[in-house]
Amino acid sequence: MTIYTNIEDLRLAAARKVPKPFFEYVENGSYDELTLRANRRDLDAIRFRQRVMLNVSERRHGGTMLGEPVTIPLALAPTGLCGSMCADGEIKAARAAQRFGVPFCLSTMSVASIEDVAAKVERPFWFQLYLMKDRSISESLIDRAKAARCSALVLTMDLHVEGQRNRDVKNGLGIPPKLTPANIWSIVSHPGWALPMLRASEWTFGNLKSEVKNAGDLGELAQWVKSQFDPSFDWRTIDWVRERWGGKLIVKGILDADDAKLAVKAGADAVLVSNHGGRQLDGAASTASQLPAIRDAIGGAAAELWADSGIRSGQDVLKFLALGASACMIGRAYLYGLGAAGEDGVTRALELIRDEMDVAMALTGLTDAAKVPPDLILGAPSRSAQEPAAEAYITHLDG
Ligand SMILES: Cc1cc2nc3c(=O)[nH]c(=O)nc-3n(C[C@H](O)[C@H](O)[C@H](O)COP(=O)(O)O)c2cc1C
Repeated sequence: MTIYTNIEDLRLAAARKVPKPFFEYVENGSYDELTLRANRRDLDAIRFRQRVMLNVSERRHGGTMLGEPVTIPLALAPTGLCGSMCADGEIKAARAAQRFGVPFCLSTMSVASIEDVAAKVERPFWFQLYLMKDRSISESLIDRAKAARCSALVLTMDLHVEGQRNRDVKNGLGIPPKLTPANIWSIVSHPGWALPMLRASEWTFGNLKSEVKNAGDLGELAQWVKSQFDPSFDWRTIDWVRERWGGKLIVKGILDADDAKLAVKAGADAVLVSNHGGRQLDGAASTASQLPAIRDAIGGAAAELWADSGIRSGQDVLKFLALGASACMIGRAYLYGLGAAGEDGVTRALELIRDEMDVAMALTGLTDAAKVPPDLILGAPSRSAQEPAAEAYITHLDG
């Protein structure tokens, strides 16, 4: 049995198992990948406050996300072409998430359709919507998500135009994908990926093929998709989506305090602070650097505040919680698991993150992941009230 000690082990295994164009599609950031690196650099730079002499024998990792119970405070982020990591990838990831007790979010740009996933999982999942210029398609996707009993809609706001990912262009993984000799070799030399893929139930944009004429031609479908991202929508569009959807709404891709306020005002139930994992605006700030200002701007509002971009460990999750998020999402961390070992790999990614969180909680004196004080990390302004008896004793000594 392969031993995976951290997400990096899963990443390396996925790099071996998945053909290079598809692995790099996941790995990529946009342009010079400045924001991709900033996400990691800023999380890495945060230091915990090590605490001892606090009774941490009982530790609670779970909580809720929009009222849904979670075993750890994170969800699997929507990822387009998730099914390129392994055959039926979306279904495997959704199953692993549900067994583990965290939400799975299906992308508009997934390989498996909403209906395919709904037929293969036990509980409701979330659906992510990209707004299309042709509003009837957005309407139809919303209606299909409702019919499939999706329990929340994630409205992604930061892909109204597409950032270029240079490695995709070089690998011919543009739109349509090019079958260059290098790509063909890359596929045939990875039989562990390619053979199950031949038996996969779907190999196109599963949600969109029924919405588009000539969808049988992957090239034409892909060109159409590219032309459909809608740069004209504004915060008023959230109203339109909210009314049509009528359920819980998560606004994704917020990186600015003013935008966070607009999203809350427009009725978001949760705001997801995100720079799309460094795949869109290159030169945008890291999520970790923006989260405190956004917390200050909308803290206390009814909307939940979540964050993603850069998480590769349970320690990273705790850092985002200390910076003001109540929950997180992960993209690549679970895609690496999926590429390395399918459904089991996603489970392993979640176990690793939970176990890392658990140890970091114990060593920072934290007993409840739903109550993370800002000064769990160094540099935060106020002293926490993690353990009232200890705080009272310290006050007594100070006095
Ligand atoms: C391969 C890949 C595909 C993605 N596709 C989508 C998508 O279809 N819709 C969306 O809202 N976000 C998409 N994202 C962004 C993720 O939802 C999430 O914001 C990001 O992965 C978080 O960063 P991380 O990968 O460092 O965890 C994608 C990310 C990756 C890595």
